[in-house]
Amino acid sequence: MKYRNLGLKGPKISTVGFGSWGISGRDWGKTDDNNSRKAIHAAIDAGINFIDTADVYGFGHSEELIRQVLDERPDKDKIVIASKAGNNFYPFIEQAGKDIPVNNDYSVKHLEFAVEQSLKRLNVEKLDILQLHSPGPEILEQDEVWIALEKLKATGKIIHCGWSVQSFQETAQAHILERHHDLIEVIQVRYNLLERKAEDVLFPMALKYGTGVIVRIPLLFGLLTGKFRPASTFGEGDHRRFNLSPEKLSSYLEDFKGYQPVFDKYPRYSPAQLSLRFCISHPACHVVIPGGKTREQVQENVIASDIDFIAHEAFLK
Ligand SMILES: NC(=O)c1ccc[n+]([C@@H]2O[C@H](COP(=O)([O-])OP(=O)(O)OC[C@H]3O[C@@H](n4cnc5c(N)ncnc54)[C@H](OP(=O)(O)O)[C@@H]3O)[C@@H](O)[C@H]2O)c1
Repeated sequence: MKYRNLGLKGPKISTVGFGSWGISGRDWGKTDDNNSRKAIHAAIDAGINFIDTADVYGFGHSEELIRQVLDERPDKDKIVIASKAGNNFYPFIEQAGKDIPVNNDYSVKHLEFAVEQSLKRLNVEKLDILQLHSPGPEILEQDEVWIALEKLKATGKIIHCGWSVQSFQETAQAHILERHHDLIEVIQVRYNLLERKAEDVLFPMALKYGTGVIVRIPLLFGLLTGKFRPASTFGEGDHRRFNLSPEKLSSYLEDFKGYQPVFDKYPRYSPAQLSLRFCISHPACHVVIPGGKTREQVQENVIASDIDFIAHEAFLK
């Protein structure tokens, strides 16, 4: 496992991390908590020291699973946890298993409340990193949300702060990083072999300011492992019914085919490993956070950290 600093001001972390949305028991259909805990243990055993989560994942369930695992580990203090806030699910907490919308709330009052709740669930005194959970432009253009982050840092409730950039808004929202780069230490960005918009404006800006870049959805919800076919379907409650609808699936799979020569060139590695390597080989990207539902998935994915002899250019068609 390779480690690097998460930008100029961030902590030293493994270049492959663990994304915990998939184990939340919500949005991805039913999950098995025992398998999820084993997956997190496997991640830490393999040298991962960076876990991405959000308060809203499973309405607190992902954070609770992380806490349960960390409580069993002597090395828990070495783990960097990045959580998120801004989706207010608290009024609906009793309906955690149901498909209900949540309210966006990035007010100082709500963010302070949300961080307190995450600290309790994770059983830590400070959050290593707080990310605003993908706010829209109407929030990002106002001062309140930035005042909230400054306040949370000043009170010592969070050590670092950042912002998870809305999917497909990488260029439209890049000026926010320009404006608030003093405060924003990390950004989280949707980026993978087939979705590379962030390369145009956002990544050069992140490089200019030394911003830490966390790469989410690096496997395109599992598609870049090569396991889906045009006729693949997803179970009840799995967001991929929409996000990988038959039309989207066909189109992504067509694009994916174009990378077969790259996969053929490195037969020792799986498409998942090479797809993750692609992300972390971009000079702006510090860590990929593939979701892992099982120990086996995690153990496959971590290998990507060590394939550092394959340059970014090797993936360009
Ligand atoms: N707005 C935001 O801030 C935001 C949005 C999305 C994600 N995120 C973060 O980014 C993380 C990563 O994104 P993601 O989990 O949505 O997508 P992803 O990492 O691209 O895909 C994860 C899914 O792919 C499958 N998978 C993973 N490794 C595999 C392997 N080796 N072989 C076969 N299948 C494998 C698993 O699902 P199956 O086994 O069910 O196929 C897993 O849940 C999330 O967990 C979350 O922490 C943040």
